[in-house]
Amino acid sequence: VDISHFVTRPPVVTIMGHVDHGKTSLLDKIRSSKVASGEAGGITQHISAYTIEQSGQKITFVDTPGHAAFSAMRARGADVTDIVIIVVAADDGVMPQTEEVISHAKASGCPIIVAVNKMDKETANMDMVKAQMAEREMTPVDWGGDVEFIGVSAHTGMGIDDLLENILLQAEILELKADPKAKVKAAVVEASLEKGRGPVATVIVQNGILRLGDNIVCDTTYGRVKAITNDLGKPVKELGLSETGTVLGLNEVPAAGAIMVGQDSDKEARDIATKRAEHARAKELSKSTKVSLE
Ligand code: GTP
Ligand code: NA
Ligand code: MG
Repeated sequence: VDISHFVTRPPVVTIMGHVDHGKTSLLDKIRSSKVASGEAGGITQHISAYTIEQSGQKITFVDTPGHAAFSAMRARGADVTDIVIIVVAADDGVMPQTEEVISHAKASGCPIIVAVNKMDKETANMDMVKAQMAEREMTPVDWGGDVEFIGVSAHTGMGIDDLLENILLQAEILELKADPKAKVKAAVVEASLEKGRGPVATVIVQNGILRLGDNIVCDTTYGRVKAITNDLGKPVKELGLSETGTVLGLNEVPAAGAIMVGQDSDKEARDIATKRAEHARAKELSKSTKVSLE
């Protein structure tokens, strides 16, 4: 492997936590305070991933549609996440889904940061959260453990700079590298069929650069990149390392967690996808034959 082209790439951070503990609010607050003001105002569309800048360095965030999707992506090898943030509401504390998230996060092997949200509330209780997490082998650094706990408020913005600086610190330790000159590889975070646009895939670039006109295979789907929009909804010509945006041009909707890979020609892309689709169909068929024989 020629490593001479390798560069440091931005970290990809996935936010997880119990329902209503403030994952989306926190992401919205980070985004609105860190994206150039002229651009932030007009954004209304739902986005599941975006990149911000802190101290001149980029960070890409992913809002989990649920940890089922997170696990599905890991199972498919689309391990986009470098760092996990577990959000725990300071008034609610650890809840059933928090426990599930803890085990998923631990299984991922990623560094974990705990964001204790809703610290603006009178009923907020950081010590309670720390104690509950310590019981689950998530002992805070200031209690002699190795997990950073950052108090934040998605409403007031308190603690957000702390959280971002902490992410950058963790990223530095991870020494994340990738090769912008490599064949492009991007993970699908979500995908859907949109009226008038066709299959639309939201991706995060893991290696190489995704460009307009690229021939791509994505699991059993294929196509040529005919449009890219960045995380602000603006048309762009390319997406760089760890950047996120939507891609148009696939013939069908790929599954979340599928890996998009650049190919040398449209024929190559079509052949690979077609073979995979046939293989998948044959497998389905043999399964249903077995069932009917039983
Ligand atoms: P799901 O995606 O449904 O699991 O929820 P979520 O974790 O994304 O939480 P969401 O951002 O939807 O917030 C849930 C509720 O908590 C909303 O009513 C928010 O306004 C509120 N909330 C979120 N963050 C804060 C905070 O820092 N302080 C206070 N006081 N309320 C918050
Ligand atoms: Na919610
Ligand atoms: Mg949410």
